Amino acid sequence: MLERTARPLRGLSNGIAGVMRAIFGALGAPGRFLADLLNGVWLGHSLHAVLVDVVVGAATAALLLDLLRVLFGVEGLETATTWVVGLSWLAGAGSILTGLTDFKDTAPDSPTRDVAGLHGVLNIVGVGGFAFSTMARLNGKHDVAFWGLLVGYAIISVGAYIGGHVVYKHGYSVNVNAFSRGKRAAAFAPVLPAADLPEGMPTRATFGSTAVLLVRRGDVVHALKNTCSHAGGPLAEGRLDDGTIECPWHGSVFRLEDGSVVHGPATSRQVSYRARINGDQVELQGPHD
Ligand code: FES
Repeated sequence: MLERTARPLRGLSNGIAGVMRAIFGALGAPGRFLADLLNGVWLGHSLHAVLVDVVVGAATAALLLDLLRVLFGVEGLETATTWVVGLSWLAGAGSILTGLTDFKDTAPDSPTRDVAGLHGVLNIVGVGGFAFSTMARLNGKHDVAFWGLLVGYAIISVGAYIGGHVVYKHGYSVNVNAFSRGKRAAAFAPVLPAADLPEGMPTRATFGSTAVLLVRRGDVVHALKNTCSHAGGPLAEGRLDDGTIECPWHGSVFRLEDGSVVHGPATSRQVSYRARINGDQVELQGPHD
């Protein structure tokens, strides 16, 4: 249902995502730093979700204060309400920025991007209502400001519902490996003849039914789950660089040693294994918890 409603926005959604990718790409290294900051790589979770909590919480508190004034004539709440609406506006601006940063890496022409696009458009309009409400309050027009807040609140409530659909129904921004960490082995088990693992070449192997990435660096072998935690990209098709692997789909970079995130959009550590060469076999044990 939501997918069908959002489908007509596909052109707009693709366009916005393309512009965001172009902007971050043009910024080079500072753009990558900024994207990591906004994706929440430093937090280990989506920063967008944190800011959205502030928007909804502050807007709910502001609406309650306004309703006390409008419905019950409670006096002296104007200044507090202005501050709280202003907070919801500021957090809303941050939510838009973080949301657009996450949005740029949704798959083109996909229902997920369509629905995320609808979510974004509604929330931008809703946050516009909070901006209007804040300005009106600063000019002493508290009755007009109430309507700006009420309309903005109604719109972001619908937008928040659709945002939940993007995460809980489409699984976007969720660690892809959360429910399938793959094979577990308490003891080392063979996965590949050592002769089939060339030096410094990302190589795909299977550990039970789990696809893994192997990288040999001299006598050391690194092993990560092959499925990127961001959206499932195949890491064995990625680019090696100085002890890291870059996912071919959206450029997340993971440390080979322990799967930790160096650059997003992934925010979740990649599943990693202990690996060794034993005789003529590469063997794995784990994963690390
Ligand atoms: S799938 Fe998106 S960075 Fe790997």
